[in-house]
Amino acid sequence: MSDNQVRGVILAGGSGTRLFPLTKVTNKHLLPVGQKPMIFHPIEKMVDAGIEDIMVITGTNHMGDVVGLLGSGKDYNCRFTYRVQDEAGGIAQALDLAKDFCMGHKFVVILGDNIFEESLVPFIEAFKLQNRGARLLLKDVHDPERYGVATLEGKKIVKIVEKPVKPESSMAVTGIYMLDTLAFEFIKNCKPSGRGELEISDVNDAYVKAGLCEYDTFESWWTDAGTHESLKVANELVMGANPT
Ligand code: TTP
Repeated sequence: MSDNQVRGVILAGGSGTRLFPLTKVTNKHLLPVGQKPMIFHPIEKMVDAGIEDIMVITGTNHMGDVVGLLGSGKDYNCRFTYRVQDEAGGIAQALDLAKDFCMGHKFVVILGDNIFEESLVPFIEAFKLQNRGARLLLKDVHDPERYGVATLEGKKIVKIVEKPVKPESSMAVTGIYMLDTLAFEFIKNCKPSGRGELEISDVNDAYVKAGLCEYDTFESWWTDAGTHESLKVANELVMGANPT
């Protein structure tokens, strides 16, 4: 294995309050989507794209169940490293726990509740050709106010705003972020948002402000699975795409 391989980070912490009471006794990412636990979907996307080393970050409550399910990674053709996020302090706070694991590498972060159809291979290939900076995946959605929203000018992202009341576009920033270790410098400058979290949109916007943010768009389906409604949609999409 060459030392400059792209690494993977799956963020599977958080509180899962919107899926309560399903998440009272288990982690959101262990709930079924199609015929598999939710977290299998992002793992498979990474492994299919040739990522061999994956860090899984989750909270204290259900870490044992997550490790019990995934083990070392030998059953999934990868190696897992685990870290605990003590409290759900935001996606950027969770990502900061992967700093040592990511040093010297480019890396792909996937939020553990993001479910999508397309292969990551072409996007990661384009990312590898970048000298530095981030590469985000956008999706045109009907409810952008639920997400980080990218304002585009031509082929450039000029701004990213987390959950804007009046979105300037319908392009959501999906929970798949291709980043370099500059991300950890940007996280250092993050201040807790109104909801008390370190926001990944602030990190992504810092890349934009530095002129170091490229993007691609998903043309096929993508959803999160973090609400009862979107969990149902995720199940329907996965079963429709792969009914057996
Ligand atoms: P969210 O869906 O924004 O938050 P959540 O999972 O806590 O759910 P809820 O809002 O219903 O309480 O997070 C998206 C993903 O990001 C989630 O699937 C796991 C990850 N995450 C972390 O790993 N750590 C965190 O502190 C947060 C907030 C999210």
